Amino acid sequence: MCIFRREPLLPYRGSVIESEPIGLAALRRAVTDAESRVASRRWWDLDADDYQDEHGAFLGDVDFVWCPEGVREADARLLGDVRGRRVLELGCGAAAAARWLDGQGAAVVALDLSAGMLRHAREASDRSGVRVPLVQADALALPFGDRVFDIVCTAFGAVPFVADSAAVMREVARVLRPGGAWVFSITHPMRWIFWDEPDESGLIARNSYFDRTPYVELDGSGRPAYVEQHRTLGDRVRELVAAGFVLRDLVEPEWPAGHQQVWGQWSPLRGRLFPGTAIFLADRA
Ligand SMILES: C[S@@+](CC[C@H](N)C(=O)[O-])C[C@H]1O[C@@H](n2cnc3c(N)ncnc32)[C@H](O)[C@@H]1O
Repeated sequence: MCIFRREPLLPYRGSVIESEPIGLAALRRAVTDAESRVASRRWWDLDADDYQDEHGAFLGDVDFVWCPEGVREADARLLGDVRGRRVLELGCGAAAAARWLDGQGAAVVALDLSAGMLRHAREASDRSGVRVPLVQADALALPFGDRVFDIVCTAFGAVPFVADSAAVMREVARVLRPGGAWVFSITHPMRWIFWDEPDESGLIARNSYFDRTPYVELDGSGRPAYVEQHRTLGDRVRELVAAGFVLRDLVEPEWPAGHQQVWGQWSPLRGRLFPGTAIFLADRA
């Protein structure tokens, strides 16, 4: 699984795949949190320009798009009324969502591990004239006090990229006030059964849903260059509950009629058959 690769490596078929700047071979193997952090930081720094070239227009400069299916917060209102709310966007990338939230009257902070992604956030702020505080930090160690936010959210940020996602849930619970909301989108866990292909070859079940071994791409020295983590739906629910959340909803967006945009392994072909995104809505007890 590689959420955002433009031309997917073909995992699970062999070892060395094709020439890429840093992702040379794809496999499933255990990684430590430290390896994951180093890989993520480097990956998202190096990939930031390509990611924004590829997806920037779809995501906009001031817009909150939850997923490749095109669910927009302006329509879905998964966060409720944000006016006057203190909101933290985790794994913000270019922070288009944070700028949209600012326009809705929220007091928002945007956080990401990657300086490369935050550079794009600054550039988009300059273009749009909408400025929000940007923080470079790890979602595993949020540089905020306890109970200081009303809402924490992310579209595909941080959660899939840390080995100890239960610890992210605990960090989010720590910075949220009681009753505060935690809303995050990730690749739907059932997608891990398939290859990362938008076409027919991505319709055949090939991997065990229950195999939590991370997807890893290695660099030329054999070090993890990209790491993505799989948890089952049940795992995610248990992580939330253990951190003190009550799950309010699990949104599985359907592929909209007429939506033709392919994003990595997300495509109209696959989207009309099974979900590609899961959006968890949880409240801190
Ligand atoms: C797939 S991108 C999503 C970016 C943005 N939310 C969007 O919708 O375009 C994942 C983001 O998560 C960030 N990220 C990865 N690991 C992180 C961590 N441990 N803490 C904070 N951010 C992290 C990456 O730097 C990257 O910007």
